[in-house]
Amino acid sequence: MLESENNPLLNFVANLTGNQYLKVEEDLGQGFVRLNVSEAERRQAKHDIQSMEDIVLEMLRNSRDAGASKIFIASTKEENLIRKVTIIDDADGVPAELHEKIFEPRVTSKLENIITDRYGIHGRGMALFSVKQVADEVKLVFSAPGRGSVFKVQASTGLLNERKDQSTYPAIKYRIGEPIIIRGPHNIIRTVLEFNLDHRELMIYLGSPSEILTTIYHLSTTDGDAEEADEIQDLKIWRCVKSIKSATVLADIAERRLGLKVSVRNAQRIMSNRVGILKTMLETLSMQEGHSEPERKKVDLLKPEPLARRLSQEDLGHIAKLFSSEFRAIGDKYFVEISGTPDVQAEKDCLKVTIKLQSKGN
Ligand SMILES: Nc1ncnc2c1ncn2[C@@H]1O[C@H](COP(=O)(O)OP(=O)(O)OP(=O)(O)O)[C@@H](O)[C@H]1O
Ligand SMILES: [Mg+2]
Repeated sequence: MLESENNPLLNFVANLTGNQYLKVEEDLGQGFVRLNVSEAERRQAKHDIQSMEDIVLEMLRNSRDAGASKIFIASTKEENLIRKVTIIDDADGVPAELHEKIFEPRVTSKLENIITDRYGIHGRGMALFSVKQVADEVKLVFSAPGRGSVFKVQASTGLLNERKDQSTYPAIKYRIGEPIIIRGPHNIIRTVLEFNLDHRELMIYLGSPSEILTTIYHLSTTDGDAEEADEIQDLKIWRCVKSIKSATVLADIAERRLGLKVSVRNAQRIMSNRVGILKTMLETLSMQEGHSEPERKKVDLLKPEPLARRLSQEDLGHIAKLFSSEFRAIGDKYFVEISGTPDVQAEKDCLKVTIKLQSKGN
């Protein structure tokens, strides 16, 4: 046993110099300490936010409480490792002097109006601080009073959990006309949908950065509130891409102002209507299986064409051929080859490829 372990004075000095000292308010002896406030906050923060889904939920609660009516969420995963999520709202916005401060612990504008929702109390001034502790980066890209906010969060999925399956839409059942989520992974889609079901007045859009940008681009010219003057509506940051005519400018403004990174090529496709416009999350509800309410049928008209159906038979055949030729070298290693031609089926938003194998030389 080291001498210092039994010697309170040496222990004290060791604590003074090591970073243990920075975490402790009081040494209570026998291995007990009272943590100081900042260490307790740091630990609480890590406990509060454990997944990307938790982050998205806190962002949604913030937008709701700030008076949003529209929320756009762009989500993308890069190199299979980094999740990037951008949240754009049309709520009250944050004054410039507070842009940095809102990420500090215990900073809130909800002194008198704590909100309790199904997720608990909202108004501790801790969520953005917590997000900052667990994410690689969280940035307020834009915010101004009356104009809304744009937050961007980046987290490596290796460090911060998220559901592996981020594409499955939850299964919905209707009970007495009310949609209820009955199963499905607790992924970002489900988090957003559950939130939206609790707050049906909100128009929430969820998609890739390109899908969100195309939706914003088209809504900004078509969707106006007749009661409100154009100039007031145009103040909202999400409308800043309205009437842009150049793809280069669109890609540039989208990144700088809306935190949406799209290539110039994609911006061109967006401007020429070649990227599908998103439905709101609630509109997409009726497109899911398991709803049998007759009055919902008319909403089906909003159903967009399944993505895979856009591909022509000719292109599906081309993909099958590519598989055949690419597989040859791989198959050689295992003495197998493809029997017949691969079968490529277009189903909803998936391409399903069936490759039947046989021993080589059969
Ligand atoms: N989208 C937003 N629009 C306007 N203001 C926002 C937005 N997001 C955050 N804020 C401001 O930042 C403050 C801090 O947000 P944060 O989520 O950290 O704490 P909180 O919402 O006050 O409480 P809680 O920790 O319970 O979430 C909020 O009180 C609000 O004033
Ligand atoms: Mg909050």
